[in-house]
Amino acid sequence: MTTEDFKRVAAEAALAHVEPGMKLGLGTGSTASIFIELLGEKVAQGLDVVGVPTSEATREIAERHNIPLTTLKDTPALDLTVDGADEIDPDLNLIKGGGGALLREKIVAFASKRMIVIADQSKLVDTLGAFPLPIEVVPFGKEPTLRAIRELIGELGVEGDVVLRRAEDGCPVVTDSGHVILDGHFRKIHNPKALAATLVGIPGVVEHGLFLDLAGLAIIAGPNGVQTLE
Ligand code: 5RP
Repeated sequence: MTTEDFKRVAAEAALAHVEPGMKLGLGTGSTASIFIELLGEKVAQGLDVVGVPTSEATREIAERHNIPLTTLKDTPALDLTVDGADEIDPDLNLIKGGGGALLREKIVAFASKRMIVIADQSKLVDTLGAFPLPIEVVPFGKEPTLRAIRELIGELGVEGDVVLRRAEDGCPVVTDSGHVILDGHFRKIHNPKALAATLVGIPGVVEHGLFLDLAGLAIIAGPNGVQTLE
């Protein structure tokens, strides 16, 4: 089986947690997209749910699969969010934002009674941080914000750096909310809570990709089958 197959297995397992009438947060990324595709099949068979997309890309995918959509303005409390992750540790702490949607993803997860993370086994790590931590910042003053994060990495004594995320054309990636992304190479994040608290204290930081105490269940598929963390 391929990584794509494992993503599909995890997405299928998450579908079992969806009940008629649920208000759903719809995640962003390749794994979440498979979930949305499978959800669309259920909707075509008559399942009555409504979704809030976590990105414009997800909105397009959900519309393509005829999933009824709403907004957090009209539906501020959601039952369940299903989303992917870039890294998952054994305590269900996550790094998210590889797809640049971390801000809306975190708001939607926060608005949900429950968040289920779906992933292939490659996302499971002992310690977060090998995947560069996405940090969404206001474009105005991104240079001093970047310097502050660089200093923080230096203070942690890590052989890392922070870089502005750029698209293939060399231009900075701009998020759905008009911000830019700094990718922080922290290598090993031994104290995610302390790092999260420090990052939100840096002016210009809008949100970071550490999702702590948000996920209630992780469904992780690999060659040995499906593993759950809760
Ligand atoms: C997007 C995300 C994604 O959930 C994360 O990048 C995982 O994506 P994929 O399922 O494609 O590996 O956080 O901002």
